[in-house]
Amino acid sequence: MDNELDWKNLTFGYMPTDYNVRCRYRNGEWGEIEVSQSEMIDLHMAATCLHYGQEIFEGLKAFRGKDGKIRVFRLEENARRIRESAKGLMMAQLPEEKFIEMVKKVVALNARFVPPYGSGASLYIRPIEIGTSAQVGVKPASEYLFIIFVSPVGPYFKTGFRPTKICIMRQYDRVAPRGTGRWKVGGNYAASLTAGVHAHELGYSAVLYLDPKEKKYLDECGPANFIAIKDGVYITPASDSILPSITNKSLMQLAEDMGIKVECRHITVDELDEVDEAAAVGTAAVASPVGEIDDLDTGKKYVIAKDGNPGPVVTRLYDTLRGIQNGDLPDPHGWCTIIEE
Ligand code: PLP
Ligand code: COI
Repeated sequence: MDNELDWKNLTFGYMPTDYNVRCRYRNGEWGEIEVSQSEMIDLHMAATCLHYGQEIFEGLKAFRGKDGKIRVFRLEENARRIRESAKGLMMAQLPEEKFIEMVKKVVALNARFVPPYGSGASLYIRPIEIGTSAQVGVKPASEYLFIIFVSPVGPYFKTGFRPTKICIMRQYDRVAPRGTGRWKVGGNYAASLTAGVHAHELGYSAVLYLDPKEKKYLDECGPANFIAIKDGVYITPASDSILPSITNKSLMQLAEDMGIKVECRHITVDELDEVDEAAAVGTAAVASPVGEIDDLDTGKKYVIAKDGNPGPVVTRLYDTLRGIQNGDLPDPHGWCTIIEE
């Protein structure tokens, strides 16, 4: 194939691959898994996903190891989380086993797009579910389409594993206090676009949102959870309006395995003055070091990476996570699923 693909210089974007897999929910049940070579979907103009936002998605990755094997990271967790998102929007819930089967199938079918070991790139797996039946009244659909496609990707932040600058802007919220923030709902991302574009225009890689009720505590970044290291302790916001990140959950486990104390609690903006390291963590972001956080309302700049380099704890956590994903390190928690090609 395309061994001419420039794996080392991939960005985080869409690239066509050979196949996607699909499953439809009709008459109260999920059908058979279909393999498709089309990048298009045929959709009714009155489908609920188009009018009332019945759209949810997931993001996970597959990696090629030095041993040549393909490993998918924690797919059972994504299978569970998308069921929670579906429940949140009154959508049909895909059984976890079906999700797992679809992921295994789509990765195996597109094995030639899994970037080689050492390239730093990975195969991003994007499951989506949409309400497809025609409706004009505001009601949940009776039919749904679940699709999983894949795309080889490089780093989410242009800087890669280098500290980036993010900002706090109180005029924007991405979710409501008791809204959809804990689910992976397309509308959350639509609601974040104005702030995201504004932040990019000002030279920041992401917005660090505050809790939408009191604007007092840190919530999360546009596409990732927020973590910090303070006096040797791993701290990360406890909040009902953030996505329960599988990467964050994994890093918390790895931190504990290393003997690092983990605290999931409210973090005030002022506390940023006392943190030694920070990172944006997620499937796409992995653990991207945050070097500086500018509060654009108060004018205060929290410089975290004082020497401009990623800190030691974030580096160790990043290396351990990536080592497990690549199969370079033992996988003591059984997080990787090997794909039969
Ligand atoms: N928070 C938001 C808003 C996200 O979009 C993501 C990405 O999936 C995350 C956090 C990180 O979650 P995960 O580590 O499960 O990818
Ligand atoms: C992910 O990390 O998988 C995401 O979904 C983040 C972003 C690309 C929306």
